[in-house]
Amino acid sequence: MPRNRFNGCPCLKGPDIEVDMDPKIYQFLHVISIILLSGFTFAIAANPQKHKKKLMAIVTGILGLVALVAGAGLMSKLHNNDWAQGWVVAKMACWLVVMGLGGMAYKKSKSFIFAALIAALGIAVYMVYFRPF
Ligand code: HEM
Repeated sequence: MPRNRFNGCPCLKGPDIEVDMDPKIYQFLHVISIILLSGFTFAIAANPQKHKKKLMAIVTGILGLVALVAGAGLMSKLHNNDWAQGWVVAKMACWLVVMGLGGMAYKKSKSFIFAALIAALGIAVYMVYFRPF
């Protein structure tokens, strides 16, 4: 039976509208938002401008949210929503670190932010391609 938005509610039966999204859309959104989030966070660390702190928080916040939502879409499309896998948990921890570093870049040293960013991004990409656990 085709899936539609009225599934499970016979009283709201409507036309069989396919609402399935192509996983490629999630892949595109996940990767582009991660690329931009990394770029913005590196840029903040390289040149932290206090008067742009709010704007940068909004931009990196939106990009991080898009990355997370698209990641969740990929979990549902490609991994049967099995969130209890080690590599998924590790990626979420890396995401949290990257999100935190944007704000920390205004106080902590450049080298700390650069090192932590490279480590978090490197671990997240390693996790998705090698899946050690
Ligand atoms: C710093 C954070 C993250 C980075 C750098 C990152 C990076 C990547 C990259 C490079 C891919 C491979 C895309 C492809 O080959 O098509 C990917 C896929 C994926 N990511 Fe992330 N990601 C991050 C955070 C997350 C989070 C928080 C989640 C969970 C909500 C997540 C879930 C996924 C899933 C499910 C896939 C698809 C895996 C597959 O193709 O089987 N990612 N990510």
